[in-house]
Amino acid sequence: MNWEQSYREQDTPWDLGGAAPPLISFLKKEGINLLAGQTVLVPGCGYGHDAEALRRVGLEVTGLDLAATALKSAKMLYGDAVRWLEGDFLDPSIVPEHSVDMVFEHTCFCAIPPEQRSNYVKSAKHWLVPGGFLLGVFFTDPPPREDGASGPPFGVGLDELRSLFGESFTITRERSPDRSHPDRLGREVIIEMVRNT
Ligand SMILES: C[S@@+](CC[C@H](N)C(=O)[O-])C[C@H]1O[C@@H](n2cnc3c(N)ncnc32)[C@H](O)[C@@H]1O
Repeated sequence: MNWEQSYREQDTPWDLGGAAPPLISFLKKEGINLLAGQTVLVPGCGYGHDAEALRRVGLEVTGLDLAATALKSAKMLYGDAVRWLEGDFLDPSIVPEHSVDMVFEHTCFCAIPPEQRSNYVKSAKHWLVPGGFLLGVFFTDPPPREDGASGPPFGVGLDELRSLFGESFTITRERSPDRSHPDRLGREVIIEMVRNT
């Protein structure tokens, strides 16, 4: 999948035009437990809507993406209060270890080829401080693609998520979102986990 080309051609069917409904709901109900100034990474941030929503509650946010064109648009939409970083989340050499308190996952994991999922977990562990928090909205059953291709998005089962993340993280909560985009109703799960020390 050539993400940069999709953004250049404005072929971005995944873009919701705003923050993910499960994130909005989480921030409304539980954002109060997040400490202002805590650092957050949004890997595969695309146009940056989720990153901006996290910034608005007082967090210090880095939006990371492979696609320069997506980041250029994110910057135009939301300015420089979020740090926009171009790079590959799967490449641990792009940042020092333990650089953020929280990772917010939404539609990056499902964009990564399934055979690279263990590298996703390694990178999340690399970025997070020990004890750091990963809030993930995962596609268990993504809507079929219009072109019939198998993915992305690549769905993932709960058992696989538990076993993949279980080695480096402790899962503290799993639930269905109380709000989802209409196309995604019943197809997502929210998992909260903490990086093991
Ligand atoms: C399905 S899109 C979702 C974008 C955004 N999260 C949203 O919901 O609109 C997947 C995003 O992940 C980015 N991406 C894919 N693989 C990546 C990687 N290895 N490192 C960083 N970004 C990646 C793509 O460029 C794209 O912006």
